[in-house]
Parts: sequence; structure tokens; C-alpha cells
Amino acid sequence: MCGIVGYVGPKQSSSLLIEGLKRLEYRGYDSSGIAVNTPQGIKVGKAIGRVRVMEEFIQTTGVFEGHAGIAHTRWATHGGPTQANAHPHTGKTKTGHTIAIVHNGIIENYIPLRKYLTDKGHVFESETDAEVLAKLIAELYDGDLEKAVQSALRDVRGAYAIAVLCDNEPHTIVAARKGSPLIVGIADSAYVVASDASAIIAHTSQVITLDDYQVVRLCAGVKDKVGDGGPWAVDFRTTTIDNVCVTQEVTKLEFDLEQIELGGYKHFMFKEIMEQPEAIRNCLRGRIDHREGRVVLGGLSGLARDLVRARRFIISAQGTAYHAGMIGEYLLEDLAKIPARCEYASEFRYRNPIIEEGTVAIAVSQSGETADTLAALHEAKDRGAISLGVVNSVGSTISRETDAGVYLHVGPEIGVASTKAFVGQVAVLTLISLYLGKRRFLSDEVVRSYLKQLEALPDMVSRVLEQSDHIKKCVEQCIDRDNWLFLGRGYNYPVAIEGALKLKEISYIHAEGMPAAEMKHGPIALIDKGMPVVFVATKGSQYEKVISNIEEVRARGGRILAVATEGDDNIHQYADAVFTVPDIAEPLQPMLTVVPLQILAYHAAVLRGHDVDKPRNLAKSVTVE
Ligand code: F6R
Repeated sequence: MCGIVGYVGPKQSSSLLIEGLKRLEYRGYDSSGIAVNTPQGIKVGKAIGRVRVMEEFIQTTGVFEGHAGIAHTRWATHGGPTQANAHPHTGKTKTGHTIAIVHNGIIENYIPLRKYLTDKGHVFESETDAEVLAKLIAELYDGDLEKAVQSALRDVRGAYAIAVLCDNEPHTIVAARKGSPLIVGIADSAYVVASDASAIIAHTSQVITLDDYQVVRLCAGVKDKVGDGGPWAVDFRTTTIDNVCVTQEVTKLEFDLEQIELGGYKHFMFKEIMEQPEAIRNCLRGRIDHREGRVVLGGLSGLARDLVRARRFIISAQGTAYHAGMIGEYLLEDLAKIPARCEYASEFRYRNPIIEEGTVAIAVSQSGETADTLAALHEAKDRGAISLGVVNSVGSTISRETDAGVYLHVGPEIGVASTKAFVGQVAVLTLISLYLGKRRFLSDEVVRSYLKQLEALPDMVSRVLEQSDHIKKCVEQCIDRDNWLFLGRGYNYPVAIEGALKLKEISYIHAEGMPAAEMKHGPIALIDKGMPVVFVATKGSQYEKVISNIEEVRARGGRILAVATEGDDNIHQYADAVFTVPDIAEPLQPMLTVVPLQILAYHAAVLRGHDVDKPRNLAKSVTVE
């Protein structure tokens, strides 16, 4: 989705802004733009396509010299990906000054505002809602940018994260948020404002995170105004849009630059697949107490009694996180014996859900910013549910708005196709289920057995990763096929859907995932000679049933790729290709069985020549509903 970066400080802002935009590229975008407060006024540059086009433009024009600037990557919502629609957008004040703005989110009442501003004489150049905000701030400007931003935001409905410049206040950026994330990095004599911590970490790990309806004014300038070498004075203040001062807590980002760089890998997605053993170790660290044979989840301790007595869990999420949530539904019912269901957050919030007393709502999200998941969380809370977050991004909106939660601690996920976060989400949901199960019906012996297997999991994942080249060879043989099926049962049914999603999103091959038994009720009509059908066919309670489903596909000429348990010699007579996973208890299988499917999708995309980390039309964090 759209990304914002702004810089004010002693360095030339344009190069820092471009570097920041490059760090935001992974989020998905179609155009980019920059505005710098130069001695000759605000200069704006925009480009369609990659940030490097923008970079070349800046280098060739050479007019972007200045210490305060804002920049943006746009993922089109209102109006197509054109130069005119790219941000920054500008407005002219009554006194002839220029306002420039970058905006993430959606201004819902932009149509009446646009009419109001047109009547006032403003001329619009784009179809965007963001331009309305630029012109509204300009209309309200009377010499104080912070004030103009506050009053404009009192007039808008919708979601926003913004950063604003005015040529009358050359060393200032004013930024604000409601419903879209925004963070301010406090660096040496400088401030970096961004919608995503990855654009800040190269400069500082000290940050403040804005809350909804907060406005921050960031000033950094030469004290003696003599020149660039002088001592720089920095100053920031935070207020609400009603101009009430707010005291901000400075926090530390929990990751470093190395974690968001490729480190020798060609793609972030592959790096993150390969990082999964370490990601699981980090997720489990300090959470398993072997002496006592229990799970320790500090984030839940304050609510432990309520959770143990809960009557129902509702998990809401989108995409890959939803698939993890589906596994959570199985885990909670199976291990903790509490009724649970997982829902698409986007559906849950609009269907007038019934929330009984004793309901716990879990929001599962890598980014902690997904608009639908956040909205479902609000809905559940408003109806009286206790709320929990299962989130990766520390300090994100969902993590701050839930009553309690458990972080994934799998490190930043840059690849647009979620991999290690999925495994982290399932690991955390497993921990929560064991945490509750131990306090409800699970015997000590059973809990200890699961904990032991969980600890062995990272090494088991490493064994699966070793098969990458083998998986690639098998994918090569069916890379020309445009329709794939992914089938599984029980805990491996959500894994099958996740496998299909991975293949779709980066290789653009049509794939469907479903319960293996469901195939007979219609989709079997699709199977023809050579159609690749991926079965998760590991040893477990439904193994024989899955084998029968494999037979049904083979009888119709389908090509079988099976994920099977190590040592299962029987499977080879049914499958054209076999990827193995170590033997583990059924509830823990998804964290292993998903790995070959992630690798399969990765190789398929590379073999088809796609840019794995920048899949078409996709955004890393979907912050609009
Ligand atoms: C797929 C993928 C998406 C996300 C979904 C939710 O690979 O990444 O389906 O899982 O957009 O995102 P989060 O987890 O950030 O709420």
C-alpha cells in the first residue's frame, strides 16, 4: 500500500527520501513522488513506475536541494496510476504560499469538500482525495501550518496518515494520523517521519508512534541561520487535532537494518522462507517452561482467568493470516476445548455478529495495520468481547488497541507474500491453545509432549528447507500448467488453501485450495491429464482417506505432488513427486507442511520470470477496507 517518508534535518533531504522510498518499495506501489522545500520554493517531482525512475529524474533536474522534504509511493485507490494522481499534491494559500502533502488512507467526504474548495476558486489537477486535503489545508492557512492542518483534519472523515510542507515554514514538517500508521524517528539533529519503520531504521531506532487524531510538528533548522555548517536546533511537539498538547513516549525499534536487507539472497521471500527455523526459535524463546511443563505468555497473564473461563473464541483476519486463524480455530477446539471460529474480518464486521458474554476476539495480523482486521476488532470490542492481538509488528495499531496479546517475534517481514509470519502466527496460536489447554483439560504429560516437539520444530523445518532444489525440479515439470489444485484434510486443509494462495499471488497461476473430500463435490470436473494436484498427505488420523482422494485424482490423469511424512514408503506408489516433512503430532504439522508449498510457489514464480518481491497489484499491508 501507499508509503510515506519525510525528512527534516541538516542533510540534503532528497537523497534520504529516495533511500526511504526504496525501503518502502516492498509494500507495493505504482507511482512515486517527492516534494522538497528549496530556497526557490517547494519543488515537486513525480514518476510512474519504479522509484529508480524518480531517482533518475531528481539527479538529472538537480533542483531538489533543501533540508525538509516529503515523499510517497502510491498504490492507486481514487484515480488510476498517473503522474497527475501521484503524490505529493499541492494547494495555494490565500497569501500565495504553497502547501504540499503526501497522504495514505481514504478521505470519505472528499466529494463535498472538493465542491466546497472548487467554489472557493481552487483548481484540481488530479482525481485523488489527497489533493482535496492539500487544498483544504491551503484554504485554512493563515501563517501557521500546524493550526491549518489541525483545522483541516477536523473537517475530514475517513482515514489518513499525512506529512505536509509549506514554503513559508521551510524547516518544518507537520504530520498527523488517523487509522493509518505513522511513526517519527528522532535522529541526530533530524527527524524522519514514515508510515513504516523500515524507512526509519537506517537513521535511528528511537521513535514515537502517533495515535489517532494526533498532529506532530517537526522543526529542524540552523540556529544562527548562517549556513549549513551551523548548530542545528531541533524541536517537536505533538497535539491533538483540537490543539491539546500530548506528551509522547519515545520507544525503541526492535529490529536492525540487517534484518530488512537481502543479505546475499535474491529475494526477500526466499530469505524469509529460509529464516523460518530461526523465526520459530525467536517466537518460542522464553515461552516454554520445561521444569513446570507449561507455556509462559507474559502478555496474557493479566487476563489469564478470563481467558480460561472464555465461552467462545472468534478469530478474525485476512489472507494468509486468516489461514493461520483457521488453524487456530482447530487448535483452540482440539487442545483447549473451547468453541472457536475463524472469520474473514471484512465479513465479520458487517454481518451484525452476536457476541455473547465470555467471548474472546483474536485479531491475527502480521502488520497489525490491516484495515478490515482492525475494523473487526473494533466491532468485537464494541459488542463487549475481550480482545487479543496475535501480531508481528511491535507497536502497531492492532497491538495497541487490543486488551492483551502475544507478539510473533519473527522479525520484520518484507516479502509481500507472507511466509515466516504465517508460521509465527500458527506457533503463537499453538502456544495460546496449550496455555489454555493446560489450565483446562490437557494432562501434564500431553502438554510436555507438545512442548518437546515444538522445541524440535526449528530443526525439523531446516530438514524441509534442504529439499528446495528437489522441489524446484518437480515444479519445472509442470510449470506450463495454468491450473493447480491444493488439497488437504483436518489441520492440513488450511495449509492447502495457503499453498494455493502463495502460488496465485506470486506466479499468477490459477490455483484453488480446498478440503480434499470437497473435490468430489464439483471441482473434480476440472481434473484432466497432467493437471498438478498437490496433496498434503502426512501420517495422521485421515491418512487413508487422503490416499483414497489421491486415487480419485490419479484415475483421472492428474499429476500428484504429495507432501508426506519422512519414512512413508507407501506414498511413492501414488505420487509423481514427494516432498517430505519429519513426523510430528498432527496439531503441529501445519508449521512443517506449509514449508514445501511456500518453496514450490517461490520456484514457480521465478521459473515464470516474475519479480517475486513485487507481485503485480499486491500490497504488503492493506490499510484500506
Ligand atoms: C499473503 C499476504 C496477505 C496478508 C493479508 C493480511 O501472502 O501476505 O494475504 O496475509 O493481507 O495481512 P496482515 O497479516 O498484515 O494483517
